[in-house]
Amino acid sequence: MKNLVLLGFMGSGKTTVGQMAARELGLRFVDTDQVIEQQEKLPISEIFARSGETIFRDIESRVITELSGQSGLVIATGGGVVLRPANLSALEGNGILIHLHTNASTVYDRTKRHTHRPLLQTDDPRRRIQELLEQRQPLYDALPNHVNTVQRPTRQVCADVIRIYRMGTAS
Ligand code: S3P
Repeated sequence: MKNLVLLGFMGSGKTTVGQMAARELGLRFVDTDQVIEQQEKLPISEIFARSGETIFRDIESRVITELSGQSGLVIATGGGVVLRPANLSALEGNGILIHLHTNASTVYDRTKRHTHRPLLQTDDPRRRIQELLEQRQPLYDALPNHVNTVQRPTRQVCADVIRIYRMGTAS
């Protein structure tokens, strides 16, 4: 049973949609950020503060490799997983990859009350979101499947995700 892998920018709804999809499909849900925090026994923000982004990305890649070796998982990934091609190859080996599309203003609205994302803890988070989204958009666009999340209820997004997963796993 292939994994269902959700990718997309911070605040695109990967965790919420992933939990719902896992319930409906009877699969186990995992979130790469949660696995990283459990393994390192530190919050993501603390890993960034103590060790920096490159070390965080190394840990993230290790976790991606571990999870890609399992099957029947719904995997919500961190927004930066697309930055390393090796992460995508590992996930593709045993999974259906689905990008949850969003835009800068939606991300801002969904993340402005949160403080756990180190990359958005700046004086001008709107601008940071725009810059990061512009840099990463080509990487998200290159993913094989896309579901729009802008102004759409979670259950609709989830229904699209499940349809794509079922098409991808039908023999
Ligand atoms: C990051 C996204 C975060 C987390 C870390 C870095 C990113 O995950 O992995 O703060 O580079 O986009 P979410 O996408 O779940 O917020």
